[in-house]
Amino acid sequence: MNRLDIVAVIERYVPLKRAGSNYVACCPFHTEKSPSFTVSAAKQFYHCFGCGAHGTAIGFVMEYSGTGFIDAVKDLAQMAGMQVPEYQTERSAAKSAQGDDLAGALLKAARYYRTQLKEAPQAIEYLRKRGLSGEIAKEFGIGYAPEGWQNLQTALADCGPKAMIAAGLVIEAEGGKRYDRFRDRIMFPIVDQRGQIIGFGGRILERGEPKYLNSPETPLFEKGRELYGLYQARRAIREAKRALVVEGYMDVVALAQHGIGYAVATLGTATTPTHLQKLLRQTDEIVFCFDGDAAGRRAAWRALENSLDQLVDGKQLSFLFLPQGDDPDSYVRKSGKDAFEALFGQALPLSQYLIKELSSGVDLATPEGRAKLLEAARPLVKRISAPLLGLMLRKQLAQTAGVSQQELDAQFQVKPTSSAPAERSAPAARHSARPAAQRKAPTSILRSLIGWLMLHPQLARLAEREALADGREMSTLDQAELATLDRLLEAAQREETVVSWVEYFRGTEQEQLLRQIELALLTHEVADWSSQETEREFVDGWAQLCEQMRRGQLDLLTEKWARQKPTREDEERYRRLSQQKPHATQK
Ligand code: UTP
Ligand code: MN
Repeated sequence: MNRLDIVAVIERYVPLKRAGSNYVACCPFHTEKSPSFTVSAAKQFYHCFGCGAHGTAIGFVMEYSGTGFIDAVKDLAQMAGMQVPEYQTERSAAKSAQGDDLAGALLKAARYYRTQLKEAPQAIEYLRKRGLSGEIAKEFGIGYAPEGWQNLQTALADCGPKAMIAAGLVIEAEGGKRYDRFRDRIMFPIVDQRGQIIGFGGRILERGEPKYLNSPETPLFEKGRELYGLYQARRAIREAKRALVVEGYMDVVALAQHGIGYAVATLGTATTPTHLQKLLRQTDEIVFCFDGDAAGRRAAWRALENSLDQLVDGKQLSFLFLPQGDDPDSYVRKSGKDAFEALFGQALPLSQYLIKELSSGVDLATPEGRAKLLEAARPLVKRISAPLLGLMLRKQLAQTAGVSQQELDAQFQVKPTSSAPAERSAPAARHSARPAAQRKAPTSILRSLIGWLMLHPQLARLAEREALADGREMSTLDQAELATLDRLLEAAQREETVVSWVEYFRGTEQEQLLRQIELALLTHEVADWSSQETEREFVDGWAQLCEQMRRGQLDLLTEKWARQKPTREDEERYRRLSQQKPHATQK
């Protein structure tokens, strides 16, 4: 199989030095004196232990040269003499050509809004009243969209109406009449991680509805992926070793004005797993700071729910609630940087917040109340794959509910935690040289099979997709993982070369899980095994899965018979399964 070698790719841009089985260099994505940028030939990933930058060969070229996905693929494919997978070209080519137009229009619009700000004393006065200096306004590219329906269209006549409509800057009404989306508003450009403008938020000057008008989602702008202020905050996050997640544009800007540069805001949506992933790549500590009102509490709980799958031992998430009536902007303006940062001492660690919130609605003095707490906690706890954090949380929960941890684990069907978490399930946990805190193993056998296939798609020929049908309906298997393994197997058996599976499955139900697993693989040292050893591991894992499915099917059938008379088909199936030789695992 023809593979694109990441070492050869990166070497074109950055001189690499060999260090053991890896290669190292000073990171091209942040300034450093000693090299923490690592390229693994075995994993075909790069990873910077300094700033958290990571990715595949394709991601590197995109990030380094600022090209779009399709150009990077073409470039690399040419270099390696490979074919570009059709599936990706068709979809992304359209997106990329369109993307260039949109980006151009957005950039010109941002320039226009900035020049308009200079001519709008009432807008300048508004910003000044809110405590912002010209310097900060400049750093965030803040501008002003003047009153009137055709200003932007007239000023940007050369952009063409199509691009402006697609970029969400201009709206076309039913009769074909076009008008500017943003009128008489303070404009906050939303910038992606590379510094490209992808949308705007516009605040009304005084009162009116809506208070903030945002760009619609476009091929460039997906609210669930972007964080306002992340581009400006990168350096401060690294220096403070912490990121602060707040709710509003103004919060981010006001915090920056007062010397807290590490704040970012979600864009009027809940904090998504993608948001978390982005931040956790850059820092080990995230503080969520939401308003003290009901909406803020809801937002905090959503953030907690969406972060459970992303938790990694050694990373710390906490929740800070401001006094009722305050938001970060008002608080920092009133009390200043030091007082604001002093609040972090009162932030609730995720585990504490979870227990507190779940306990708040129940009466812990009664057995019924305590049972209710555990019932509510179970689905949440089960989603935590970080072994140590999960353990600590279960200990605390057990204590709160007045049961032993063993009893709780039995109820939650958690396997007793061993000292070497997930030793068997990760493609190569045993060769790890990193401290345990930085490791996160894919936790199920399904996840590790998916991980193996992502790294070595040629393994797909060793597995039969049909066998997976046995795993459906089994509650002990995660059905989303099962479906993803199935789709990945199918694709890997068919495709010659796929540069990035996450990109391949972009926009499908599989994307999220593949992303998570890729991230988990990244924080693992993967041994440079021979292909024979790799195959043996995979075949072994596959056999384990088949055996799990065989037993699960037998259990399901037996359970069913306790409730109803067996059908002939069921009996036939039972006979077949029970006579099947158990899938032996080598070792
Ligand atoms: P807030 O109303 O808390 O915003 O909404 P804020 O930043 O404190 O506003 P100021 O201080 O009055 O200027 C929080 C976030 O929710 C989104 C925006 O992203 C906003 O920053 N939002 C709010 C909207 O998208 N539309 C709205 O009408 C209101
Ligand atoms: Mn506010």
